[in-house]
Amino acid sequence: MATLLLHLSDFDEARWAKGFAEALPGHRVVRRGDDFDLSAVDYIFIWKPKPDAFDGLVNLKAVLSLGAGVDALLRHPGLPKDVPVVRFMDADLTQRMSDYVVSQVTMHQRLFTRFKRDQLARRWVQLYPPAAWETTVGIMGMGMLGQDAVKHLKVFGYKLRSWSRSPKSIEGVEGFVGANEFDAFLAGSDILVNLLPLTPETRGILNYETFKKLRRGGLDGGPVLINAARGGHQKDADIVRALTDGTLGAASLDVFEVERLPEDSPLWALDNCYFTPHIAAASSEKTGVAYFSKAIRDYEAGLPLPNVIDIERGY
Ligand code: NDP
Ligand code: OXD
Repeated sequence: MATLLLHLSDFDEARWAKGFAEALPGHRVVRRGDDFDLSAVDYIFIWKPKPDAFDGLVNLKAVLSLGAGVDALLRHPGLPKDVPVVRFMDADLTQRMSDYVVSQVTMHQRLFTRFKRDQLARRWVQLYPPAAWETTVGIMGMGMLGQDAVKHLKVFGYKLRSWSRSPKSIEGVEGFVGANEFDAFLAGSDILVNLLPLTPETRGILNYETFKKLRRGGLDGGPVLINAARGGHQKDADIVRALTDGTLGAASLDVFEVERLPEDSPLWALDNCYFTPHIAAASSEKTGVAYFSKAIRDYEAGLPLPNVIDIERGY
């Protein structure tokens, strides 16, 4: 009987275990602390791996990532080599992320942030927001999430541009590719949305130099940063500096260099920084259990595992 081990931090592991036990009859679903033989574990379903996550798992067939992003897994020194890592790719998660991106882009483009300040100051100033077609949204990363975000933003009429590693041909989106075209991409972006995976190449990419290269004059108050990918992409101190000296007009952050955000972070006090505690697009238990149970059943029936990470590439 095949064994699935759950290793979830910050999630209700017991509920997911119950879901898997129902969806995978004929399998043993276990959690650390249960009575089982580590060497009998075939699959580990994992999020935020602890240091001992892979200890004793000498017969693993697959690592199943609850998250779409696998950076923490790939950095884990205990991750067994040559065991495929399957990531979550899901319409529900994607829709949640597009909701987040659209809500933040429209909030900034319509200058709601500025009007809130006016309201608090009892100030009546008829400042007209730019039209959507006058506002360029530049999306870093054109994978599962980036492609869905542009699909949704297109409906509103924004000018769209994308930045990725390989060329993309997406109607209504001006594509920029690789390090050589990064500056040109930034130079036309009023609102910069980050949906990249965290890899050695993308770590720290949201820094002061990057912010200085964004288009100025498009949005009242300055260009805007929206980071919904990973805290490791950004330098919190550079964001504070840029939000304070006007290099950035505003920022929406779902992720931070250190999570939870330390109490003494200056970001808390900045009224042009809008943040959420890494909740932009959670993995749904219902669709997650269905997706990974199917992956396991298919694999055991001789089919390939879905959405296996390219470990060399890092995503
Ligand atoms: P994908 O792997 O589907 O897409 C990644 C995209 O980034 C691809 O277009 C890829 O280019 C591009 N890319 C990768 N490296 C580079 C580089 N060095 N330079 C330029 N472009 C690059 O990822 P997803 O869209 O599924 O997810 C993106 C990230 O979002 C996840 O890794 C995760 O960290 C984060 N996330 C955050 C959530 C939250 O709640 N805050 C929820 C879910 C995900 P190419 O197409 O050429 O390969
Ligand atoms: C993910 C996340 O990677 O929620 O799925 O951050």
